[in-house]
Amino acid sequence: MTNGKPARATRAVYPGSFDPPTNGHLDVVERAAKCFGELVVAIVVNPQKRSPMFTLDERVAMLDRCIAHVPNARVEHFRGLLADYVRAAAADVIVKGLRVVSDFESEMSAAMMNRSLSDVDTLFLMSDQKYSFVSSSLVKEVFFLGGDVAALVPEPVLRVMEVKRSTLLETRS
Ligand code: PNS
Repeated sequence: MTNGKPARATRAVYPGSFDPPTNGHLDVVERAAKCFGELVVAIVVNPQKRSPMFTLDERVAMLDRCIAHVPNARVEHFRGLLADYVRAAAADVIVKGLRVVSDFESEMSAAMMNRSLSDVDTLFLMSDQKYSFVSSSLVKEVFFLGGDVAALVPEPVLRVMEVKRSTLLETRS
C-alpha cells in the first residue's frame, strides 16, 4: 500500500520488431518478467529499418504463443514513437536486450532520446551468451537460403516460417 492506495505493479515495456521473434527475444521476456510486475511485449507495426516480412497479425500470433507460459507478460502493438506509446501505456521502464558491444552504441542514444521525450528510463538485460549471435534478420536470411534455424527460434515461430517459405516459393513458381 502507498498512501492508502494499493501499490501498482511496475509496468515494463519490451519493444521490438519481432520479425520474427527468436529464442533470444524469448529469453529476455522470461528474464524481464521475473524483474517486473507486468511486462508488455510491444510490437512496432512499421519498423523504420525495412518492411517486415511477417504481418502484424503473424507477429502477434507468434509472440502470443511463445509467451503463453509467462503469466505476467502480454503482447501489444504500437505505431509511431515508442516514447509516445510508453507514456500512453503508463509504463515505468523500457526493457531492451543487449547482445554485443555494438548494440550498446545505438541503444545508448535511443535510451537517451526516449528518456528525453518521455521521462521513461531504459533498462538493459545482457543476452544469454548462447543467443549473442541471434538476430531476426540473420535467422530469416539463413532460413530462406535453406539453413537450419530450429535451435534459434521457438517452435511456433518455425512453423509460421515454414508456411511463409512455402507461400513465397509458390508465388515465385
Ligand atoms: O527489434 P528492433 O527492430 O531492434 O526494435 C527497434 C524499436 C522498435 C525498439 C525501435 O525502432 C523503435 O523504438 N521504434 C519506434 C519509433 C521510435 O520511437 N523511434 C525513435 C527511437 S529513439
